Amino acid sequence: MAKLVINGGNRLYGCVDVQGAKNAVLPLFAASILTNEKVTIKNVPDLIDVENMAKILRSLGASVVKNGKNVEIHADNLKSSEISHALAKELRSSIFILGPMLGRLKQAKVAYPGGCDIGLRPIDIHLKAFREMNVKIVERSGYIYCDASNMISGDIMLDYPSVGATENIMLAAATIKGKTTIMNAAREPEIVDLQNFLAAMGASVKGAGTPFIEIEGTDKFKSVEYTAMADRIVTGTFAIAVAICGGEIMLNGCKGEHIQSLLSKLAKTSCNIKQYDDKIEIASKNHREAIEYIETQPYPGFPTDLQAQIMALQAVSEGVSIITENIFENRFKHVCELIKMGAAIRIKGRNAIIKGVDRLSGAEVSAQDLRGGAALVLAGLNAIGTTIVNDIYHIDRGYERIEDLLKKLGADIRRI
Ligand code: UD1
Repeated sequence: MAKLVINGGNRLYGCVDVQGAKNAVLPLFAASILTNEKVTIKNVPDLIDVENMAKILRSLGASVVKNGKNVEIHADNLKSSEISHALAKELRSSIFILGPMLGRLKQAKVAYPGGCDIGLRPIDIHLKAFREMNVKIVERSGYIYCDASNMISGDIMLDYPSVGATENIMLAAATIKGKTTIMNAAREPEIVDLQNFLAAMGASVKGAGTPFIEIEGTDKFKSVEYTAMADRIVTGTFAIAVAICGGEIMLNGCKGEHIQSLLSKLAKTSCNIKQYDDKIEIASKNHREAIEYIETQPYPGFPTDLQAQIMALQAVSEGVSIITENIFENRFKHVCELIKMGAAIRIKGRNAIIKGVDRLSGAEVSAQDLRGGAALVLAGLNAIGTTIVNDIYHIDRGYERIEDLLKKLGADIRRI
């Protein structure tokens, strides 16, 4: 099993071209089966999750061809309307494919994606919305059987602004004549990317980025070439890396407005930040001050996907910080590992209380999930001595060879 070996203490200098966003690309892959024309998605990151989504599309009968960062998807001849347990268990986002399957094939049998490493992650909001759209759903033996032959448009009020449910409803509604309105929709930038993609394919979608999204469906989807947005979580991870290590870097191809909740906190406590149209310059101050209170929230609040990484920064900042995780109930698994490295952290329910130390110390630790794994790498960059991070397949699900980028910036890190 591959590991990362890090000798901490180096400052970071240079430029990073931020990879395409996994969480934007996965719904775009799902959307590509809406048309029998060829679709080209550009800026696709080379990640296991993306490869797993390609496998799912191929199992339905689509052709998926990768050419560097471009992926061509051609779903002119779909043969199956079933996603097996073996495929669904590899990728939580397999659930996104349900919406477009219902739209295109009018039926689906999809294995329940089940729980995962950061919490229960139920799909009740997705299914409630589909039922309101007149989809007949039976849940039996770990599978969801759907009949969408009489699917209709309408007003859908979400009980919670779920990212995945918002995307799934958009994908199904894009195929139905008439107007569907999603109220209390999630506002994440990846949803705006999906809106732009669907609009380029010929559906009429507006309002993404606000709590009200309106979709007028079509049955004439066009061929499209589309460049996916940059990954805001990867952007945020590198911004935090500079705050932890010191130095000065330029993050290219990304938008500061997508991680404003992070940048405004870093600017107050540890970094000087200049934002341009499509790049961000971050220089560390000589001092790291604790951020008193951080609470994860749906966008534009502080992202749960940066909670572990900001905790690594708080572990080495002067003062006490309280981090509250509101989105997922099991997202503090990195804490035990950070404590092994000398961090002073207590967990009380959904709150982590962190008393900063000046430097952590190198230790052998294990990634427990994707973002928690990234946090351990950041902690290792600060630590005195050598840190070994095991189980880095979690990190590889979301970061394209994180060590290559960090090494280019001057970190002492290698994969063995
Ligand atoms: C997406 C992201 C994930 C990110 C998360 C929060 C993708 C592929 N994944 O996940 O990386 O961490 O947003 O920004 O884009 N919930 C329900 N019932 C449902 C759906 C959700 O109770 O049917 C709950 C979840 O358990 C969680 C909360 O709602 O507590 C948010 O989930 P949601 O926004 O749906 O996140 P995901 O789409 O799973």
